[in-house]
Amino acid sequence: MVQRETWATRTGFILAAVGSAVGLGNIWRFPFVTGEGGGAAFLLVYLLFVALIGFPAILAEFVVGRKTERNPVGALMELGGSAWKYVGGVFVLTGFVILSFYSVVAGWFIRYFLEGFRGSYGSLLAGYEGAAAEAELPEAAVMFGDVSTGLDAFVFHTLFMAVTIGVVALGIRRGIELAVKVMVPAIIVLLVGMAIWVATLPEASAGYSYYLSPEFGVIADNWATLLPAAAGQAFFTLSLGMGVMITYASYLGEDRNLTRDGTAIIGFDTGIAFLTGLVVFPVFFSAGMTEPGDGGPGAIFVSMTEAFATIGGGHVLGLLFFGTVSIAALSSAISLLEVVTAYVIDEKGVDRWKAALGMGGIIYLLGVPVTYDLIFLDLLDGFADGILLVFGALMLVILVGWIAPKVAVEELEKGIGNLGGLGQAWIWAIRVPILLVLVITLYLGVEGYVGFLTGDFADWISANL
Ligand code: PHE
Repeated sequence: MVQRETWATRTGFILAAVGSAVGLGNIWRFPFVTGEGGGAAFLLVYLLFVALIGFPAILAEFVVGRKTERNPVGALMELGGSAWKYVGGVFVLTGFVILSFYSVVAGWFIRYFLEGFRGSYGSLLAGYEGAAAEAELPEAAVMFGDVSTGLDAFVFHTLFMAVTIGVVALGIRRGIELAVKVMVPAIIVLLVGMAIWVATLPEASAGYSYYLSPEFGVIADNWATLLPAAAGQAFFTLSLGMGVMITYASYLGEDRNLTRDGTAIIGFDTGIAFLTGLVVFPVFFSAGMTEPGDGGPGAIFVSMTEAFATIGGGHVLGLLFFGTVSIAALSSAISLLEVVTAYVIDEKGVDRWKAALGMGGIIYLLGVPVTYDLIFLDLLDGFADGILLVFGALMLVILVGWIAPKVAVEELEKGIGNLGGLGQAWIWAIRVPILLVLVITLYLGVEGYVGFLTGDFADWISANL
């Protein structure tokens, strides 16, 4: 048997896990779901979710992966018994669903990046002046409507999937580890720079108060939609609930301190999302868009091109921004495909490159409808984040909390030392309160999704078919 690959360097794992976590979830998804959730109220619930549920849950994935040194399906079966292969199957399915739409969105970023080589963002937007006047929308919104579906979107989806498949086919060390080393620092520097710049905008303070002063009444009135939305966003952005962290930790040595690594990963990921909000909302309000919830999946594109078109040096900043986000998306996409690929390699004995190409190809096809109409984005994203990820996290919590708690604590203690009562506290937190919150969240998520299927989606079908 071939020796299982491991990370080449001690930092390789952290970088790859951060690379997986930091991606479109932070930069594209976070601002618009925050907008839809009402701003600061959403932010608060999301942050609570990350700290109280995301952290214990990421540790659960780590111990399962490092203990078993297997892909998620094999890992769950080893700890839980053969019936758990179905749960593992759901993890793999989740990877399929997320990557299919993820690739389309990543394609938009590549497109905006390449557009910057044709001219400044100001001159690009000027090209949409007439159409914008007619539609009574900002130019940047018209531009997004123009490029987000259709042939262009299809071409860039194709391109992005091809690159993702290529990197995964090359394997853990040569591919993934190398790809993430420059990206995270670059994103942070850029976002900090942008955040400082937007502070000078005329309506920045309106943006800040929308983003940063929560109204508790909003939370109380909307908890049934806020909870699943915030949970979905927390799991999505942390790459939790579908086995990415299991897979990455399976290539890990026993000397790593998992709580420290988990804290670092969550800290980076949450920090980057938070920073993105500091950039986006002031720009929105300054551009006269006072209903950030209406921005939808185009929010980040509209606000950023708006900004890059006006500020000095905006052209270079724009190229840097869209380019970096494209790379960040790639490192996340790689992790999604890696889960699916590792499963096929380990359990079916297929070659790495064949597995990557075959699975990547199917995922690619699944994403194609999104390039036709964005309703399919809601269809796939809503299913993955509202249901699949929450279900995955719930199953992990059951596995670690109820089925293999002893093994889990022992594994967590490797690389840290005796945890004493803390290990038990972790187990009891996931056994009861976290489990209950996840059950409620899953229930609300299913309810919301059924509402979408019988509402917006049914309407779309009857209008288009
Ligand atoms: N965490 C990634 C992001 O924020 C997306 C992702 C979700 C990656 C689930 C892997 C697994 O963009």
